[in-house]
Amino acid sequence: MREPGRSSDLLEILGPAELSGRVAVSGAKNAALPALAASLLLPGKLELSGVPQLADVETACRLLERLGSEVTRSGDRILCSTPEDLPGEEAPLELVRRMRASVLVLGPLLARRGQARVPLPGGCAIGARPIDQHLAGLEALGAEIRLEHGWVEARAPRLRGTRFRFGIETVTGTENLVMAAVLAEGTTVLERAAREPEVVNLVELLRSAGARIEGEGTDEIRIEGVPELRPVGQHRILPDRIEAGTFLIAAALAGTSVRVEGIRSQDLESVLLALHDAGLEVETGPDAVAIGRRGPLRPRDVVTAPHPGFPTDLQAQWMVLMSQAGGTSTVVETIFEHRFGHVAELARLGASIEVAGPRARVQGPRRLQGAEVCATDLRASAALVLAGLVAEGRTTVEGLHHLDRGYADLEGKLASLGARIRRISTPARHEGLLTTGGSGL
Ligand code: EPU
Repeated sequence: MREPGRSSDLLEILGPAELSGRVAVSGAKNAALPALAASLLLPGKLELSGVPQLADVETACRLLERLGSEVTRSGDRILCSTPEDLPGEEAPLELVRRMRASVLVLGPLLARRGQARVPLPGGCAIGARPIDQHLAGLEALGAEIRLEHGWVEARAPRLRGTRFRFGIETVTGTENLVMAAVLAEGTTVLERAAREPEVVNLVELLRSAGARIEGEGTDEIRIEGVPELRPVGQHRILPDRIEAGTFLIAAALAGTSVRVEGIRSQDLESVLLALHDAGLEVETGPDAVAIGRRGPLRPRDVVTAPHPGFPTDLQAQWMVLMSQAGGTSTVVETIFEHRFGHVAELARLGASIEVAGPRARVQGPRRLQGAEVCATDLRASAALVLAGLVAEGRTTVEGLHHLDRGYADLEGKLASLGARIRRISTPARHEGLLTTGGSGL
């Protein structure tokens, strides 16, 4: 498992890249994290397969261990075993700070132990990201919630089924409440629930443990509480649609033919449609998508939205594609308030993007030139790598601890498609191995 990139590591890319061939996506980070949290609810051992090797997954495993679980890892498999009495401590602040999705343990802990103590995650680089909906839902299920000195303290000897309508669509909020409700007394109906494929994947896991859940993938999920769950054995994490989308955009930028494998095209419909409208030839198979250019790239507006809308997690990468399209396009971010950190860095490479509130206006096509850039968040880091593939000359991307949270060996996979890209780690930099040209990539 890759440790988070040291803050001084960087990626060096020599562009422009010509990509061709096939690449397989890993399992989805955002499905692996709730599945790991769900292991707290399950008796016996749970083996997860298709788990991506990422810093966030590593953080989630450390969190489970601190809560009293045993976790062993081998390749893309993780075996979790949660003891009956779950003896561990509260969720430690340093892990919750490192990864907001740690809040996913709140629902399972409350359901299993009748109490939970978890730090409030606080804001992050892309927005304030409150968890008020998670807490309101747990209260509706009968929990007593207190906020004390930056910690959430939740108590409920037994949760009771309820009808709860989310004030906003929230992915981890939906997952938390589904996990809390499976052992509650009576029936819970969640209205305005998130419809993301990762929610569906979690429900499949819980159902195989005997949970009674209907309506996943729609905006109303119905959970009939059961007194106990049974051991599951195995569960497979679904493929990462955001990683898949990132490779499709990389191929679209390079203008060559690439096949992205291990991907469920039905999870990516809005993105495939946008790619088609932008002038790409997109061919979908049962578990692969082939992409190639039909002609010059055309501007195509996107507005991010909850699933099945255009995912916010591909907004930054889409902007890079639009910087190469012949005309003006608009990208509107509706999910997070501050998710344009990549814009200033893309401008350093030569992109022309104006931001006004949630709206970015991208003027293309612009010739990008290699430069030194720094990632501000996970998806921004992927966008900078994509821009580096297009830019002429040498681009270096810093801030790789963001990239390593959510992409399993992005540079290795891009190199296998023909990109000239390599990671330069701290010692190599100190030894002066970094050269400005002819770096033997
Ligand atoms: N929100 C609230 N109150 C809440 C919960 C959410 O106001 O109680 C707001 C958020 O501030 C945000 C919006 O609702 O403005 C949607 O947030 P959501 O809760 O859906 O986001 P999340 O569950 O924290 C997950 C993914 C994100 C992804 C978003 C949106 C995981 C672990 N994370 O976050 O993934 O961007 O859904 O699809 O599933 C990433 O992978 O790069 C990433 C940030």
